[in-house]
Amino acid sequence: MEYFKLSNGIQIPALGFGTWKVKGDDCVNAVKAAIEVGYRHIDTAWVYKNEKEVGQAIRESGIPRSDFFITTKCWNDHRGYEATMKAFQVSCENLGTDYLDLYLLHWPKPLDAESWRAMEELYETGKIKAIGVSNYHQHHLEDLKKTARILPMVDQIEFSPRLTQEPLMAYLKDEGIQMEAWSPLMQGQIFDIDVLKELAVKYNKSIAQIVLRWNIDKGVVVLPKSVTPSRIKENFEVFDFKLSSEDIARINALNQNIRTGADPDNFDF
Ligand SMILES: NC(=O)c1ccc[n+]([C@@H]2O[C@H](COP(=O)([O-])OP(=O)(O)OC[C@H]3O[C@@H](n4cnc5c(N)ncnc54)[C@H](OP(=O)(O)O)[C@@H]3O)[C@@H](O)[C@H]2O)c1
Repeated sequence: MEYFKLSNGIQIPALGFGTWKVKGDDCVNAVKAAIEVGYRHIDTAWVYKNEKEVGQAIRESGIPRSDFFITTKCWNDHRGYEATMKAFQVSCENLGTDYLDLYLLHWPKPLDAESWRAMEELYETGKIKAIGVSNYHQHHLEDLKKTARILPMVDQIEFSPRLTQEPLMAYLKDEGIQMEAWSPLMQGQIFDIDVLKELAVKYNKSIAQIVLRWNIDKGVVVLPKSVTPSRIKENFEVFDFKLSSEDIARINALNQNIRTGADPDNFDF
């Protein structure tokens, strides 16, 4: 495993396991398979309705809680100081933990400033090791900064070879905010891209491995999801090679600003 250092000094594993749309026993089994091959960073959210199953898989692994990096997210209905405090408690109970490694505001919403005040307090009392946001554009971060005492340590956004988000990435770097990539495999839609096929042959790796390595080589925390044990293992085997700067640039050039998910600027839940 490789790690990146957040602005507050916390070490975050560069590769995490995504759990969106994975529920019930499928979730317990997938997270157990991930833990088995070595993942210790698990990404969930209250709205995924699988925090209990993620917690169960972690507990049943027998590996100490302190070895894991658990991220969950505060959903849009839970905005405002009190609602965010309550949402944090509920997520901890679901996960069976008394602290979170990373808690994110899932989507930019009005009242984020009040929610952020709750997050800052939970962070200062040690109940959350790092706090951040998700799906924030630069202007959302600029708004939050007007009232925030503590800057977000993370912004989790959609990022893939077809959506390289270069201006936002540069801004996050300048602000010392760690970027995380969601839907890094475009929910399964990256596998027909010729340049990636060529690079997979060149490095003797799979297309998924090339794309995950591209994220890590660019300093991005990457969160692939799979329920297939062989793919879960394959996606973890990305620490024995690096891409050349020319090949990183070839993947950068695949950008077409295509999203697989919603754009927070023109979509609301
Ligand atoms: N913050 C947010 O708003 C937000 C939004 C979306 C996602 N996320 C996070 O990001 C995580 C990842 O995104 P995602 O779940 O949308 O999609 P993804 O990781 O981009 O893609 C998952 C899809 O790719 C397939 N796949 C995985 N590894 C593969 C491999 N090695 N070879 C071939 N196919 C492979 C999976 O199939 P199988 O499962 O069938 O193997 C699944 O269909 C989520 O699970 C969630 O934790 C966050």
